[in-house]
Amino acid sequence: MTPAELRTLFLFEALDENQLAWLSERGRVEQRTGGSAVYNEGEPATCFFVLLSGAVTLSRRLHGDDIEVTRTDQRGVYSGATQAYLGDRVDQVYPNTLRAVSDAEFFVLPADEFASAIRSWFPMALHLLEGLFFGSRAADTILGERERLVALGALSAGLTHELNNPAAAAVRATEALRERVAGMRHKLALIADGRLDGTRLRGLVEIQDAAVKQAAAATPLSALDASDAEDELTDWLDEHGVANPWDIAPVLVSGGVNVPWLATAAEAVGEDHLDSAVRWLAYTIDTELLMGEIDDAVTRVSDLVGAAKQYSQLDRAPHQVVDVHALLDATLTMMRAKIPAGIRVVKEYDRTLPPVPAFGAELNQVWTNLIDNAVDAMDGEGTLTLGTRREGDRLFVEVTDTGGGIPPEVRPRIFEPFFSTKSVGEGTGLGLDISYRIVVNKHHGDIRVDSRPGHTRFQVCLPITPVDDSADPADSADAAGSAAGG
Ligand SMILES: Nc1ncnc2c1ncn2[C@@H]1O[C@H](COP(=O)(O)OP(=O)(O)OP(=O)(O)O)[C@@H](O)[C@H]1O
Ligand SMILES: [Mg+2]
Repeated sequence: MTPAELRTLFLFEALDENQLAWLSERGRVEQRTGGSAVYNEGEPATCFFVLLSGAVTLSRRLHGDDIEVTRTDQRGVYSGATQAYLGDRVDQVYPNTLRAVSDAEFFVLPADEFASAIRSWFPMALHLLEGLFFGSRAADTILGERERLVALGALSAGLTHELNNPAAAAVRATEALRERVAGMRHKLALIADGRLDGTRLRGLVEIQDAAVKQAAAATPLSALDASDAEDELTDWLDEHGVANPWDIAPVLVSGGVNVPWLATAAEAVGEDHLDSAVRWLAYTIDTELLMGEIDDAVTRVSDLVGAAKQYSQLDRAPHQVVDVHALLDATLTMMRAKIPAGIRVVKEYDRTLPPVPAFGAELNQVWTNLIDNAVDAMDGEGTLTLGTRREGDRLFVEVTDTGGGIPPEVRPRIFEPFFSTKSVGEGTGLGLDISYRIVVNKHHGDIRVDSRPGHTRFQVCLPITPVDDSADPADSADAAGSAAGG
């Protein structure tokens, strides 16, 4: 390209004749056919490219997915070895993949030539760029680590607390069960000593089976009804010579056994063995109820593990189509221990919403931060409302609280990193900054807030269809290496 042609590109418009001549001598023009890759992410960055004609896309690989970050046909946009001037202090590889989507033409400059031009022509700008680059990379590392820690902390704190109760319940019930089973073995021996004949024994086993079914189907009685039923059973047992009936009656009642049922059973076993048989029945019912308790506790544990998996999206691809309701519910389960009893949680979900392409685990981070803030704002009492709805091709997730609201002088600063009105140790001021970066940079969405005393609503808006040509989702350090629009 001639110096005059080079000057028409916005990147070179302020260069002097000598500089343009230098570029013209060292650069070359290259053509690529539509559909081909110009260079691939991770390859050694050997050239700097300026688009002359045609259309291109830039994409980045994120956890195995290729994500398009820019699509443009603007003449003069540049990409490639944009960090060559940093020399060997950074890994000189292409940070993204450039593809020609139509036949395209580029002005191409070898990376080392480009680097030496920048160094000798713009020494001061070079210092500034270096400061910006290394500064923002350091900040990113710190924030990224903090982000992972926050996620991990929230997850493990919620989980340990929540898992503790059912696990302890299962341990308690298992111990009781062990005692009951030992008791049953003992009773069995007593029955055998009473020379129970085969028919009677069969009758007893049948009654036992019936009692198990009865116990499983028993509906819990009110305290008053239960005590009436216990009195009635105690009287009956007493009349029929069963010792200490008040010990047995409550268990029988909780297993749904009543006087007519017991009378039928007594006929099958015979008066002689009634005492032992009734005790055996009580043991049967007790074991059955304990096994039910263990079953509930273990189910709760596995539900929690399921929620933790859903929350962390551990077994899933990081970017995929997700149902926001499943994410919100998993987050609520994980956070339950942190929501005080005085706060009512209301779900206003529009279940007809379609699943959206998203980074699920990261969105969970967003809900966690918003719910965390809402809970903090309500000081133990109020209503937390989680809502979803659709507007056109966008989906809204809303977290609303009835707390004190955000004062107008605070409002402009809440998304700044490290801005917090909470005392040291209570808030780091990163919650909303992290959320903003996840929603806006990674999902091309938006976070808005609307607040007055007694009503604060954070709105997260996500595109329902994948975004094609939007802003670069990379953060500042990466942006330095991507095609800038001009
Ligand atoms: N729902 C809300 N009601 C009232 N004020 C809020 C609400 N959400 C956020 N804020 C204000 O915004 C500030 C920044 O929130 P952010 O989540 O970024 O940090 P933090 O909650 O202070 O600390 P961190 O989330 O890192 O533990 C809060 O300190 C608070 O003053
Ligand atoms: Mg917060």
